Amino acid sequence: MVSKHSAMPGHNEAMNPLNANFMQRLGLRLPVVQAPMAGSQGSALALAVCEAGGLGSLPAATLTLDALRQELDVLSRQARGPWNVNFFCHSPPPSDPVREQAWLDALRPLADRLATTLPTGPAVAGRAPFSREALEVIRPFRPPVVSFHFGLPAPALLAEVKAWGAQVWSSATTVDEARWLQQNGADVIIAQGLEAGGHRGMFLTGDVTTQTALMALLPQVVRAVQGPVIAAGGIADAAGVHAAMALGAAGVQVGTAYLLTPEAQTQPLHRAALASGRAGHTALTNVFTGRPARGLVNRAMRELGDGATCLSARAPAFPLAGWAMAPLRTAAEAAGLDDCTPLWAGMAAPLCVPMPAGELTRRLGAAALAHTG
Ligand SMILES: Cc1cc2nc3c(=O)[nH]c(=O)nc-3n(C[C@H](O)[C@H](O)[C@H](O)COP(=O)(O)O)c2cc1C
Repeated sequence: MVSKHSAMPGHNEAMNPLNANFMQRLGLRLPVVQAPMAGSQGSALALAVCEAGGLGSLPAATLTLDALRQELDVLSRQARGPWNVNFFCHSPPPSDPVREQAWLDALRPLADRLATTLPTGPAVAGRAPFSREALEVIRPFRPPVVSFHFGLPAPALLAEVKAWGAQVWSSATTVDEARWLQQNGADVIIAQGLEAGGHRGMFLTGDVTTQTALMALLPQVVRAVQGPVIAAGGIADAAGVHAAMALGAAGVQVGTAYLLTPEAQTQPLHRAALASGRAGHTALTNVFTGRPARGLVNRAMRELGDGATCLSARAPAFPLAGWAMAPLRTAAEAAGLDDCTPLWAGMAAPLCVPMPAGELTRRLGAAALAHTG
């Protein structure tokens, strides 16, 4: 593979010389990043990936500060090699009672069918953005990598993260976002292709028609920025890794494939759906949180989406749509149904094979190392 790709015009090292010492600067043995997956994993998955030589990630978006501290304690004591802690950095939306009532009205048919009641009172946010309080929790642990989704935090907070030497990473879903992230302090850009499972990291636009598949996005981002670019979205096996590396990636970030590992906390209904014939049918939806995210199509997505889509103009702003959906999810799951469960998954879900996280990391890593020389 090495000589074949080295001979190709536009080879990654030629396009992006900073790829050459990307791993050395971080002390990483394999250019494989386990994607942070809020709600589906904790330190156990991250530790298994670090042990195998990849970059394990701890998602913080759904953790209380106490839970975050406990997980960081485990990770920082036990991780072999570098590790990553990940935050969302959205702006919490103002309360909008009219929109929230309209959303409750939209959910009522589903609630009636499940014989459950909808919540009353103001909407509650189920996901917190990076904050000064979170910064104070992570500071003593000095995470080697701090990654963000939905842009970057305020410059003063970012400067403090960088002060202990952490690398700052963030997801770009367009070339404009990649340029913005670099200009505003990101050391590494994660090019998140449209195939990716979970939330789109989009932050300069809410227009989903701007979102581009990885094969087109990645080479454009590699040309647009100076530093290393990590490829994310639809990579589930060695062939996907080869493709991403040939297009100029310094490494790969993989999410959905790790959902099937025993170390992930993937809920049984989610695991079963991923292993079923439904795994090949994903769509972007905002009905679970208010932001577009990719998941396996289910009843809530189909029934609440506008027209033929799984996106609803009525959903409250992120993350408030989830507040009203929570009791429906609980009721459906109690009946063994995934109708109201976010089944986050990327387009390559049918390619994912259940195996221990260490083995998956080593397989993906072996493919990536063929390109790093
Ligand atoms: C279940 C799930 C949860 C996710 N949660 C997060 C998260 O908390 N933070 C984040 O930066 N990205 C999150 N992502 C997106 C990943 O970072 C990454 O872009 C995606 O998994 C790559 O595509 P793939 O799933 O096809 O491998 C999530 C993805 C999945 C599948």
